Amino acid sequence: MAPRRRARPAPRKAASHVRRNLAFWERTQAWYDGRHAARLDGAHAMAWGHWRIPESQLQLLGPVRGRDVLEVACGAARWSIALARRGARSVGIDLSPSQLRSARALRSRARVRLPLVRGNVEALPFRDRSFDVVFSDWGAFTFADPERVVPECARVLRPGGRLAFAATNPWREVTTRPGLNHQSRRLLVPYFGTRRLDFGPGDSVEFTRTFQEWFELFARSGFAVERLIEPQPSRGARSSYLSVRDERWARSWPIETLWQLRRAGN
Ligand SMILES: C[S@@+](CC[C@H](N)C(=O)[O-])C[C@H]1O[C@@H](n2cnc3c(N)ncnc32)[C@H](O)[C@@H]1O
Repeated sequence: MAPRRRARPAPRKAASHVRRNLAFWERTQAWYDGRHAARLDGAHAMAWGHWRIPESQLQLLGPVRGRDVLEVACGAARWSIALARRGARSVGIDLSPSQLRSARALRSRARVRLPLVRGNVEALPFRDRSFDVVFSDWGAFTFADPERVVPECARVLRPGGRLAFAATNPWREVTTRPGLNHQSRRLLVPYFGTRRLDFGPGDSVEFTRTFQEWFELFARSGFAVERLIEPQPSRGARSSYLSVRDERWARSWPIETLWQLRRAGN
């Protein structure tokens, strides 16, 4: 099934963080894919976050067969390809042409039907109530503004639909700062009031919220939180996203949050 597009006037000029993150992903895509592909492919394709916890264990998406499933900020779309193989009507959207090129190559190898759309998750080019499930594994809720993304996900979800995503945890943000490149055991950045993290010229812009702000935003947008998971890795767990030092840190503090929400309404 083709993605249910809706005509939207193109924004005159993308917000500065969108331009910065587009440039960042265009510059780093090949490096990123080379470093992480083995942890994102095959058995790990349907798995969450830094520790690649299998969806079969967490069940954040619920049933997908025959459902309309949108992956926001899909990257190379490995998740969406795996879901399409399991009978989901998957659609992927991402900002980066390089990521989408990679996604198209993987899609043709997998021979699945998977519409891939280039676009900004802050203004989704889909009609209201088009999807049963919307999800993101470290993309849309970290690199785009949650104040825009959460209401957009609510809009394109059908009542009762699921939103699930992995994103940063405030502990990660308050224990590092631009240029440090590792997690500290000291509090370096205020928890209150830190909403946008600018890692400097040529680097990405990320977003974070306090837990109270996340809950208020979800309630305003018509979501009820069903589960919140702060994964604690076992001793010796490895992540291609972290140094050994940061892996040790992450056994004491949560580096990421996994959310499962339900769109209100009937
Ligand atoms: C860490 S990757 C996540 C993709 C995949 N889950 C993975 O782990 O490789 C982050 C993705 O977010 C995308 N992205 C960043 N800002 C975006 C935006 N405003 N709209 C759509 N995609 C965006 C980037 O292009 C990139 O592909």
